[in-house]
Amino acid sequence: MHAKRTLDEYIIENQNSIPDAAGEFSDLLRHIGIAGKIINRIVNKAGLLDVFGHDGNVNATGDVVQKLDLYANDLMIEYLQNTGVCAGVGSEELEHYVGFEPRHNRQRKYVVVLDPLDGSSNIDVNISVGTIFGIYRRKSAVDDPVDIGDFCQKGEALLAAGYILYGTSTILVYTTGNGVNGFTYDSGIGEFCLSHPMLKIPETGKTYSVNQGYYAQFSSEIRNFIDACANKGHMLRYTGSMVADIHRTLCKGGIFLYPSTAKNPNGKLRLLYECKPLSFVVEQAGGSSFDELGRRIMEIPITELHQKSPILIGSTDLVNEALSRNR
Ligand code: AHG
Ligand code: MN
Ligand code: MN
Repeated sequence: MHAKRTLDEYIIENQNSIPDAAGEFSDLLRHIGIAGKIINRIVNKAGLLDVFGHDGNVNATGDVVQKLDLYANDLMIEYLQNTGVCAGVGSEELEHYVGFEPRHNRQRKYVVVLDPLDGSSNIDVNISVGTIFGIYRRKSAVDDPVDIGDFCQKGEALLAAGYILYGTSTILVYTTGNGVNGFTYDSGIGEFCLSHPMLKIPETGKTYSVNQGYYAQFSSEIRNFIDACANKGHMLRYTGSMVADIHRTLCKGGIFLYPSTAKNPNGKLRLLYECKPLSFVVEQAGGSSFDELGRRIMEIPITELHQKSPILIGSTDLVNEALSRNR
């Protein structure tokens, strides 16, 4: 059996692919990996620790906050601050971004956007959850405090994005714009190891992933597309954890939809923390991601941190078919 490359080895080998980034950017990715291992340890033992259930609050977008949401949020932020190169974090769990004090020997050049725990309502019932991240180079001067413009950047400005899926095995999948690689966690050695090099999404698929319970609230075009999927005998799969549904879609092909509903005209999913980072990954794997009006998710301007958008994402053929019914 050949030794698999660890995430750290891979990051160091590839650190020159990001211009002007070298070791600092590698540090950022490595710290996300370390925080992911710690979240993984807690998620794995969730039933044994006092981490089930609600925190008693709702977050900036009105979701019920789970105890583990806050744990993952605080842990990620602490690790990112400790890198010395991250200038601030925008998180789904925080109404405002946080900025970090400068550190004498390092330049805080980057900002990170996070969904610390995606699908967190699934924790109590042992269904997979995930962490989503995106990394931007800050636009403000390195010695100034971060500002909103550092976070509300074009999707195209993402330097890297990815997710950690705490599933039957734990996998970290990310892109820096040169394809997508997946690293499965080997708990025996405590390392993420390259298991899915250069992931490519199939051009089409036979799986559709949507909350069918909102069917009556969808547009007639989306309902037509869903009917067509069902009439073709395609399989319906929906976990309620976007990371898990996207990972399956990436590996097997298919489409994931969170359309506008009568109750939520902009859908539920947040551009900055969920839609754009996952769109970067899916596009880098050869797939597509648009909103219901046919705007590429990566190009939608962001004006506020918690801005939402409907999303149709996955295998290019299926996304095009869904969009053709909307035109
Ligand atoms: P989060 O737990 O970060 O708030 O995200 C949950 C999201 C996403 O993971 C999932 O696809 C979607 O919410 C499920 O929403 P519905 O229950 O409305 O289908
Ligand atoms: Mn989420
Ligand atoms: Mn979340």
